[in-house]
Amino acid sequence: MAMKFSDKNPELGALYGSHLATVTARHDHALEQAGASHAVIYSGDPKLAFLDDYHHPFKANPHFVGWAPLVALPFSYIVYTPGETPVLIYYQPHDYWHVVPGAPDGYWTGHFDVRIVHATDEVAAHLPADREKCIAIGEFHDESLAFGIERINPTTAINILHYARGVKTEYELAVMRLAAERGAAGHIAAEAAFRNGMSEFDIHRAYCEAVSHTDPELPYGNIIALNEHGAVLHYTDLDREAPENIRSFLIDAGAQVHGYASDITRTYSNGDPRFQDLIERMNTMELAIVDKLHAGLDYRDLHVATHTMLAEVLVDTELATGNPDTLLETGVTSAFFPHGLGHLLGIQVHDVAGHQESETGGTIDPPSGHPFLRLTRVLEEDMVLTIEPGMYVIDMLLENLRGTPAESHVNWDTVDWLRPFGGIRIEDDVRVRADGHENLTRDAFARAS
Ligand code: GLY
Ligand code: MN
Ligand code: MN
Repeated sequence: MAMKFSDKNPELGALYGSHLATVTARHDHALEQAGASHAVIYSGDPKLAFLDDYHHPFKANPHFVGWAPLVALPFSYIVYTPGETPVLIYYQPHDYWHVVPGAPDGYWTGHFDVRIVHATDEVAAHLPADREKCIAIGEFHDESLAFGIERINPTTAINILHYARGVKTEYELAVMRLAAERGAAGHIAAEAAFRNGMSEFDIHRAYCEAVSHTDPELPYGNIIALNEHGAVLHYTDLDREAPENIRSFLIDAGAQVHGYASDITRTYSNGDPRFQDLIERMNTMELAIVDKLHAGLDYRDLHVATHTMLAEVLVDTELATGNPDTLLETGVTSAFFPHGLGHLLGIQVHDVAGHQESETGGTIDPPSGHPFLRLTRVLEEDMVLTIEPGMYVIDMLLENLRGTPAESHVNWDTVDWLRPFGGIRIEDDVRVRADGHENLTRDAFARAS
C-alpha cells in the first residue's frame, strides 16, 4: 500500500498530535459532565455468525478509531484519564491460526503508553482500580470484557462526543482528502471498465483493485449499477454478465484511509446524447448546491432549495410541467428525488449526530415531507458532509402520483424514455468553510487527472 495511505505518512504524523489534543479535550469535557474520572474505550470484537464458528468481518468501535488509526485491533482498550498520557492496551494474542497485530509502529505510537497483552485476562491489571469512576465506551456482547465497569455508554458523554465529531480536525481533514483521492482512483478505473463494456461484477473488481480494498474494507457496499439498476437506491447486487445494451452507469463507491470514509457517486452515459445532457444538467445543479455552502447555513434549507432547483431541471428537460412550487407541493420532485441531499461523513459513512440538536442531545427533525434527510443541523466550519442530489425513475413512487393533482404535471412519455437509464446521482464530499467550502472529491479527481 502506498506510503501516503499508511500510518507512517509523515504529513499525517505532523497533524496527529493536535488531533489527539482535540480528542482529549472533548473527553475531558465529556468526563466532567458525566461525573467520571476515566474513559475506557473498547475497540470491540468480531461477532460470530449464528450457529457458526465463523465471524462477521470485524468493524472497530468508531470511538476507538477516533483516537488512533487502529481499525483492525480487536479486544483492545484505550484508557484515558485527564492530564495523563492515554494508555493503549494492545491485544496481541498468541494465536497460530491467524495473523496477529504486529508490534505497535506508526505516527500514533509515541502518543500512548502502550501495554501489550496476550490474553484478555491480562487487561484488568491495566485498568483504573476504581471501576466506579470509569465509564466504558464500546459494544460489549460479553459484559465480562467491561471488567466490572457498570457505566457503559452513558448518554451524557456519548452525546457530547457524538456532537463534537461533526467538526473535523486538521488531521481528519487530511485523512479524508486521502480517502477522497483513493476513491477517485477507484472511480476512474471503474469508468474505464464501464467504457470497456464490462459487467457490474467486473467493474466492481476493477474498482477494488484500484483502491486496494477487499470487500470488507470498503466503507460501504459498492453500488455498481448498469441501466435500470441505477434506479435502485441501494443496489448492491453485481450481475456477472454485462447487459446486451449498455446505456448508463451509476456508481456510488467510497474508500477508506485510517477508518475515515469517502462516499462518491458518478453517473455516465454510454453515448446517448439526451441522457448525457441530463447528467450535465444534474452536475451543474450539484455544483450550484455545493457553491451555496458556508458556515451558518441550515442544511434543511439547502435540501428544500435543491427540490426547487430540481423542479427547474425537470421542466427544462420535459420530464414535468408547472412552476417549482407546484412541483414541490404536489410531490413531483419527491417522487423523482426521494432521498436526502446528504449526510455528515467521517469515521462512519452516515456519521453520527446528523439530527442532534446540541451536545446535550435533542433532535432536529427533517422538514415535513422529507423523512429521509440525515442531516438537519446548522453547518459549522470544518464539518464534512456529502451533497448528493439525484433523479430516478422509481415506478413505485411515480405511480403513486396517478390520480392526484401531480399526475398532470408529469410528462409520462419522457419518463418512459428515461426509465431504461435508471437514474442519476452525483455525490461529492465537501468541507464547510466559514465563507464557502472545500470540495474534497472534485479536488481529488483534479489531482488524479
Ligand atoms: N453510499 C451511501 C450514501 O450515499 O449515502
Ligand atoms: Mn454514496
Ligand atoms: Mn452519501
